[in-house]
Amino acid sequence: MKAVTWHGRRDVRVEQVSDPALKEPNDAIIKITSSGICGSDLHLYEVLGPFMNEGDVLGHEPIGIVEEVGPEVKQIKPGDRVVVPFNIACGHCHTCDQGLYAQCETTQVREHGKGAALYGYTKLYGEVPGAQAEYLRVPQAQFGPIKVPEGPPDERFVYLSDVLPTAWQAVEYADIPPGGSVVIFGLGPIGQMSARIARHRGFRVIGVDGVPDRLEMAKRHGVEVVDARNAGNVPEAILTLTNGRGADSAIDAVGMEAHGSPVAKFTQAMAGILPDRVAEPLMSTAGIDRLNALNQAFDSVRRGGTVSIIGVYGGMTDPMPMFKLFDKGLTLRMGQAHVRRWIDDLMPLVTDDADPLGVLDFTTHRVPLEQAPHAYEMFQKKHDGAVKVLLSP
Ligand SMILES: NC(=O)c1ccc[n+]([C@@H]2O[C@H](COP(=O)([O-])OP(=O)(O)OC[C@H]3O[C@@H](n4cnc5c(N)ncnc54)[C@H](O)[C@@H]3O)[C@@H](O)[C@H]2O)c1
Ligand SMILES: [Zn+2]
Ligand SMILES: [Zn+2]
Repeated sequence: MKAVTWHGRRDVRVEQVSDPALKEPNDAIIKITSSGICGSDLHLYEVLGPFMNEGDVLGHEPIGIVEEVGPEVKQIKPGDRVVVPFNIACGHCHTCDQGLYAQCETTQVREHGKGAALYGYTKLYGEVPGAQAEYLRVPQAQFGPIKVPEGPPDERFVYLSDVLPTAWQAVEYADIPPGGSVVIFGLGPIGQMSARIARHRGFRVIGVDGVPDRLEMAKRHGVEVVDARNAGNVPEAILTLTNGRGADSAIDAVGMEAHGSPVAKFTQAMAGILPDRVAEPLMSTAGIDRLNALNQAFDSVRRGGTVSIIGVYGGMTDPMPMFKLFDKGLTLRMGQAHVRRWIDDLMPLVTDDADPLGVLDFTTHRVPLEQAPHAYEMFQKKHDGAVKVLLSP
């Protein structure tokens, strides 16, 4: 089959790889009809090279049709239309029983001391072949895949794989009080959907980014925006909009590659060009994250407020402003999304003809799988109005 494979920094290719096959009795094989490119893929594309191997198949946001199932898989059958969550969970272990699917004890990557295995995501998360491909092997298929109705276009449901549950968790963890406000840093796909979900739930939403098309998209969905390029001091701008107190809650939907942290950017660039043997320890032990957006979130939230971190971070010694966090009495919540946990909340919204979250006004580009290298570049550089890109295998 054809698949998108990783070869190095800013080097992804479409290649012929062997077709996946059932290996375990609880596996399924899915024929993919659409597959998203995520901001998390951009971290692999740019800075996480030391944890990748050449030829790794990328991608973790698929929708498709079940092709084949192992004997232990009863909840889906060949021909069903399904979305596959980006984290692989068993659904019946100690952590899954608490809805903490991103920490599943059955698929945890213990060798590296990490949480649940992820599709298409580094050695640290199991190096499971990903979903930007024609077919996907789905482990733990007795639990993972989500059945969706026939009929509506893939765009309606594909975002249940990652963006929607991730954004839902970001809002949930932000713990916004009734009638309260939230400031969202980063208006990429995750920030956009977090904003729409917070609006849908009746909150005041202020979004911060520096990319004009992204600010426009957010405005279209009822978000007040602050343009990071010309706001001067962003936290001051947020305070001005919130009676000098700050927003009740903040969401960091930017992650480790935030603009405006030159020292960390230099370290990331160094790690990117060193041989893996040297770079891997450097990446795991040094304070490699660019914390500009996160620090602005701490400064933009009111005393006693909550900061929900949904952007991905990976440094071990990132400097944290403990005095400020303690003095302001902030609450921090974070982590990979527990995808399946939020599906019951989201399904009524994506099947509603009125499209309350605007999933049909989200995909900015759909391109054939063959054009993945171009699509990655366009999405990374934010060219051509790219916000969310789907690949068609
Ligand atoms: N926790 C999870 O389960 C989960 C799931 C999916 C994605 N993510 C993470 O969420 C983050 C965002 O993903 P995305 O798909 O929206 O990608 P994205 O890279 O397109 O979005 C990031 C946005 O942040 C903006 N930005 C950069 N620096 C900024 C700053 N200092 N202030 C304000 N805005 C700034 C960029 O212009 C961009 O629009 C990534 O870190 C991704 O890995 C986490
Ligand atoms: Zn994703
Ligand atoms: Zn489990």
